[in-house]
Amino acid sequence: MSSTFPATRLRRFRRTASLRELVREARVDVRDLVFPLFACAGQGVERSLEGLEGIAQRSVDRLCAEAEEVHALGVGAVLLFGIPEEKDEAASGAYDDDGIVQQALRALRERVPELVLLTDVCLCEYTSHGHCGVVDGDGEVVNDLSLELLARTAVSHAEAGADAVCPSDMMDGRVGAIRAALDGEDFEHVPIVSYAAKYASAFYGPFREAADSAPAFGDRRGYQLDPGNAREALRECELDLAEGADALMIKPALPSLDVLAAARVRFDVPLFAYNVSGEYAMVKAAAARGWLDERQAALESLTAIKRAGADVIVTYWAKEAARWL
Ligand code: PBG
Repeated sequence: MSSTFPATRLRRFRRTASLRELVREARVDVRDLVFPLFACAGQGVERSLEGLEGIAQRSVDRLCAEAEEVHALGVGAVLLFGIPEEKDEAASGAYDDDGIVQQALRALRERVPELVLLTDVCLCEYTSHGHCGVVDGDGEVVNDLSLELLARTAVSHAEAGADAVCPSDMMDGRVGAIRAALDGEDFEHVPIVSYAAKYASAFYGPFREAADSAPAFGDRRGYQLDPGNAREALRECELDLAEGADALMIKPALPSLDVLAAARVRFDVPLFAYNVSGEYAMVKAAAARGWLDERQAALESLTAIKRAGADVIVTYWAKEAARWL
């Protein structure tokens, strides 16, 4: 046992900013932040979003300019989402060679060759009903039928230049299906970052406006994790790794720090955490009312996510954090 007070005084290392800086255990580094981008059709379009201050839907030309700025700030990667012009039952826009994300990927690949391009692989932005998979006559999301479409989507992202694909649909078996499809098309070098532990969370609200992906009926509790379950989240991680996932994502971040910490102990793969739209919007809204300091609250959130064990953080604060740090 080490000695106690008065020999031990933990305040000694807290005395000055430089001392605190020296012994800090977890830090936020811009190089492992990921900035989400929303691509839409058109030319010169920049549509700001009510619930996500500072974030906009952008046509590909504007998206390129934004990505250049993000890259110049030192942010590690972007995560692409698409807002298609048309939606249908089969989510055709998700795996269309000329779909919005595919167009964005080709343009970004050329304009910012060194920026890491991640894509969200899901059907919800592309289905007329807004669910993450194919829906049957009873309104049930059909697991196995959805796998083929998800795999096609991932392959088309790889073809268009994605550095890694990130399935976020929560269908069983999707990682295996995507891995097999990528390998079958000579994309064995493209990693899968699986949103392995994705909870059915109320904190995705502002995102669904941004991505126009709110389900038209029902909710996502039939496929996303129940917020009461942590052991099940770890099983999801284990299964996704067994199916070939190269990295795991935990989401939402702050409400799932326990899962993140447990996953850190169990799995030696890169761990991603998604600091989601609602986590960002809450702080923005409170800061706008003068109730808290945005910069401090944001950096504290990101530091806590790091401390819990994340290697990489997807966050709408990535650009601002780069300027703050
Ligand atoms: C797609 C997807 C969602 C988010 C990321 N990918 C929405 C959802 O599952 O409803 C949420 C991101 C955020 O809230 O910032 N399935």
